[in-house]
Amino acid sequence: MTRTVVVTGGGTGIGRATALRFAAAGDDVYVTGRRPEPLAETVALALKAGATGTVESVLCDSSSAEQLRALVAQLPDTVDVLVNNAGGNTDFDAADGEGLEALAETWLTNFRANVLTAVLTTEALADKLADNGAVVSIGSIAADKGAGSYGAAKAALASWNVYVAGVLGERGITANVVSPGYIGETEFFRDRMTAQRRETLIAATKNGRAGEPDDVAETIFFLASPGGRHLSAQVLNVNGGAQTTR
Ligand SMILES: NC(=O)c1ccc[n+]([C@@H]2O[C@H](COP(=O)([O-])OP(=O)(O)OC[C@H]3O[C@@H](n4cnc5c(N)ncnc54)[C@H](OP(=O)(O)O)[C@@H]3O)[C@@H](O)[C@H]2O)c1
Repeated sequence: MTRTVVVTGGGTGIGRATALRFAAAGDDVYVTGRRPEPLAETVALALKAGATGTVESVLCDSSSAEQLRALVAQLPDTVDVLVNNAGGNTDFDAADGEGLEALAETWLTNFRANVLTAVLTTEALADKLADNGAVVSIGSIAADKGAGSYGAAKAALASWNVYVAGVLGERGITANVVSPGYIGETEFFRDRMTAQRRETLIAATKNGRAGEPDDVAETIFFLASPGGRHLSAQVLNVNGGAQTTR
């Protein structure tokens, strides 16, 4: 059966790999994000790889109620799988500022980018979510590492997920968080990743390698599969057994 899948932040990294995974399975896939170019590239890659279903991009900032309403109007009546992937550590882009006001701004910005994006997108699509469907949100190892406002936001996302799993569970819809460790080949770190930092993150894993976007995409795909129907309200760590990141 062809499913309809929505992947937020589907233009790069984990979101792109996830979109390509579902497209390769013949599903209809809609990718969202704020920049048109990476989204168009995801669509082109899916078509080049032989996608047989619909693969479309829709410009949408997942933290904007107005843009989410416009997205909902463009989607089919039923959405089987929602992947709340949009997010990232907004501290990387924050202007230097001092004082409580600046601190409040950085915390609110990370909360908006990593919690509100998932909460608002899920609420916007709730009426379209198919019975027995799946919602997967992307958390982070940072939630367990005392990683400032970004880690706290991802921890809040996991808490919200338990709540929403109960609400959607009445319709047989599962809701889970996939929590990656260090994943290479993404835009997440901007230009901040040094060779030494990468080595440290890899050394913290049990299997001695960086994660790849496909590692996360496969876990998301499984959670949305028939085999994943009794998994809900969970946080699944995809981090090679990483124990420390400092
Ligand atoms: N890479 C890692 O090591 C790692 C580890 C743990 C968790 N994560 C999480 O994994 C998820 C995916 O990140 P990634 O690693 O694949 O990095 P990425 O390449 O930076 O991907 C993030 C994507 O989200 C989109 N996005 C960000 N804010 C958005 C918004 N408000 N509305 C719509 N789209 C938005 C971005 O596109 P636009 O800028 O065009 O909107 C981008 O395509 C994030 O939630 C991140 O926090 C990553």
